[in-house]
Amino acid sequence: MKVVGLKCRICGKEFPAEAIYTCDNCFGPLEVVYDWEWIKEHATKEKIERGPKSLWRYKDFLPVDVEPVDLGAGYTKFVKAENLGKVLGLKNLFLIDDSVNPTYSFKDRVVSVAVTKAKEFGMKAVGCASTGNLAGSLSAHAAKANIPAYIFVPKGIEKNKIIQALVHGATVVEVDGTYDDANRVATEVAEEHPDWGFVNINLRPYYADGSKTLAYEAAERLGWTLPDQVVVPMASGALLNAIFRGFRDLERVGFVDEKDVIFNGSQPYGLPISRAVKYGKSVEPVKKMDTIVHSLAIGNPADGIFAKEIIEKTGGFAEDPKDEETIEAVKLLAKTEGIFTELAGGVTIAGLKRLVEDGRIDSSDVVVAYLTGNGLKTADPILEYLNDTVKIKPRLEEFEEVIA
Ligand SMILES: Cc1ncc(COP(=O)(O)O)c(C=O)c1O
Ligand SMILES: [Zn+2]
Repeated sequence: MKVVGLKCRICGKEFPAEAIYTCDNCFGPLEVVYDWEWIKEHATKEKIERGPKSLWRYKDFLPVDVEPVDLGAGYTKFVKAENLGKVLGLKNLFLIDDSVNPTYSFKDRVVSVAVTKAKEFGMKAVGCASTGNLAGSLSAHAAKANIPAYIFVPKGIEKNKIIQALVHGATVVEVDGTYDDANRVATEVAEEHPDWGFVNINLRPYYADGSKTLAYEAAERLGWTLPDQVVVPMASGALLNAIFRGFRDLERVGFVDEKDVIFNGSQPYGLPISRAVKYGKSVEPVKKMDTIVHSLAIGNPADGIFAKEIIEKTGGFAEDPKDEETIEAVKLLAKTEGIFTELAGGVTIAGLKRLVEDGRIDSSDVVVAYLTGNGLKTADPILEYLNDTVKIKPRLEEFEEVIA
């Protein structure tokens, strides 16, 4: 068995591989412990390369043993961004484009793993608290797994953010309060129903490891080498942590040479992780979040201190672009590479731009930047910043005047 158990990331206490997520000794988060001998025996580069064109080509590294609940997430577009690179002054810029996942965000990776784990545990239902991306992904995977899904959302959530959840038949519970209130209720429900799998609560250690595939893919598509630097959008910081662990996994099994990859994070202005790294503070929760980038607006980031530690020990940095820079970055990416990313991806590109301008990334560095969601999910704020249509009467001459 490749999963040995779970371990507290703070005090190191060990636990069996069950649906638990916090340490009863110090309340630290738990992570999956793997049997690396098992993985070394079973995984080979050739087997991966022959595998499905989804994250399940890395199944030997993922914490599940049963047949996956698979909508085809992962192994998304890996783009050498020549045009954007030229504008920013980078010769070797690569983008992983997760806007083209089955439900249009990187959450499909973590959810596919978590729902598979729920199936392996024989759970009766799945659930989450969400502001949009997770809801869409979980409801679709639950439909495929033929298992009920309960999605807890904050009051007044825009219908277009939960349309996916509704169309896939999830029960969407609108909690009279904020996202934090919805999350608290979801946590209580998870405790009351131990045979339900809340993907980002009691299944969180397994769920988080789905994002390690974003590291595996970067390495595989760079010919089994590691990049010099990465730029990762941050909300809770879990994604950045997972990518870091993913590179270490590949070194451990000898698929890549060891390399000190520099980790950079990007978060909208005023949010805790970037603020702590940039201004040399500790990661303190913030209550008021004044940003249009809702998918990254987590005031109390569960993996924040670990993300800060990784950024600092690898010699990276965290940027905190303002919303206007983020919108400009979404437009720049769309115009140069033909990729329309959601605002979180704009935060990545705006952060990358600043890092280059400040001389933290060299023009010849091999850089991988992560685009984690689709632009159509956050179209409204962008619309205001685009040129209006050109209006003409239905006559050729009028059009010719436009281009004159
Ligand atoms: C589109 C998008 N990108 C990035 C993230 C960052 O995730 P994390 O909480 O793992 O830092 C999120 C989180 O919800 C997201 O929705
Ligand atoms: Zn502990």
